[in-house]
Amino acid sequence: MINTLSLTPIIQDISLPSPEQQIFPDWEYANEYQLWVKRDDLIHPIVSGNKWRKLRYTLEQAVSTGVRHIVSFGGGHSNHLHALGYACNSLNIKLTAIVRGHFHSNLTPMLQDLVAWQADVQFVDRKTYQLRDDKTYLASLAQQYPNAMFIPEGGSSEFALAGVADIISELTQRYDYLLTPVGSGGTLGGLIHGAMNQPEPLHTKIIGIAVLKGDGYLEELVGKLLSSRATLPSQVITPQPIADWHINHQFHFNGYAKASPELHQFCQTFNEALSIPIEPVYSGKLFWAVKELMAKKAFTAGSKILLLHTGGLQGARE
Ligand SMILES: Cc1ncc(COP(=O)(O)O)c(C=O)c1O
Repeated sequence: MINTLSLTPIIQDISLPSPEQQIFPDWEYANEYQLWVKRDDLIHPIVSGNKWRKLRYTLEQAVSTGVRHIVSFGGGHSNHLHALGYACNSLNIKLTAIVRGHFHSNLTPMLQDLVAWQADVQFVDRKTYQLRDDKTYLASLAQQYPNAMFIPEGGSSEFALAGVADIISELTQRYDYLLTPVGSGGTLGGLIHGAMNQPEPLHTKIIGIAVLKGDGYLEELVGKLLSSRATLPSQVITPQPIADWHINHQFHFNGYAKASPELHQFCQTFNEALSIPIEPVYSGKLFWAVKELMAKKAFTAGSKILLLHTGGLQGARE
C-alpha cells in the first residue's frame, strides 16, 4: 500500500473493505463448489468497483502534488471516465475527457453526467483515438494542456496495480480461484501484483476473462504493466514472487460490448434471482464464463471460487 493523503473525507461514502458474499445460483453443478463474490460494486454509488481501486493512488498523488488538471481517455459509455469525472468534480480538479467518436448531438447518459460535473469533453475520431498511448501524440497533448496529469484509458497505470492489489490484502479467507473480467488489463495485473506481494505464496489461481478479442494482446498489456511494478514504492520482496495466472479468451462474445440475446437474458435472470446487478459488458461475461466453466467441470471439485465484481453499469444505461 502506498502512503499518501487520504481522499475518503473528500470523496464521501467510500465503503471499504467490500464484502465477500457467498451465492447459490441454480447453475449446473454449482452446488459442487463454493461460489463467492467480492462486491467491489458496493464500494461507492459512482466511483464503484475497480474504478476506486484503479484511481485511488493516482488521485491521491494528484492531490498531494497539487495537480489542478487531469486528462484521460475513454468511449462514450466509459465507466472509467464516469468515475473520474465525479472524483475530479469532488476534488475540484479540472478534467479533460478525450472521447472516442462524435456524440455532440447525442450525448450518452455518461457524457451528460460528465458535462454536469464540469468536465471539458473533447471528441476525437477513431483514428486519432488509436494514438492514445502514442508518445508523439501524448507530447502534443502535453503542449496543449501544460501541467496536466495524464491518466491512460481505463485508469490502468502502475498506481492502479497498487490500488487493485489492496483487494488481495483485504480477503478474509483463502480461495482456490479468483476470476475477474479483463478489458485493459489493469485489474488483472493488480491482482497478480497483489498475489506476488504477499509474504507467503497465495495458492490461488487467478483467471482473467477477456471481454474483447485480444488473444496475445491482453497478455502483453498485463506483462507490460507488471514490468512497471518495480517503480512502485512499498514493495514486499518475496523470496518466490509467484502468481499462477492466465487469461481465458472463450467468453468475449465476439468483441467489446458485443453480447448475444442469451447473455442479456442471463444477466436479467441473474439480477432478479440474486439481486446482484450485472451487465453484459463486463460482469455479465465474467459470471457467464464461470457458469460455463462449471458446466464443463473446469474447476477442481469442491473448490472455493471468488468472482471479483468490478462494478460499472454505464454500458447498461440507455
Ligand atoms: C466495470 C468494469 N469492469 C472491468 C473492467 C476491466 O478492467 P481492466 O480494464 O482493468 O482490465 C472495466 C474497465 O476498466 C470496467 O469498467
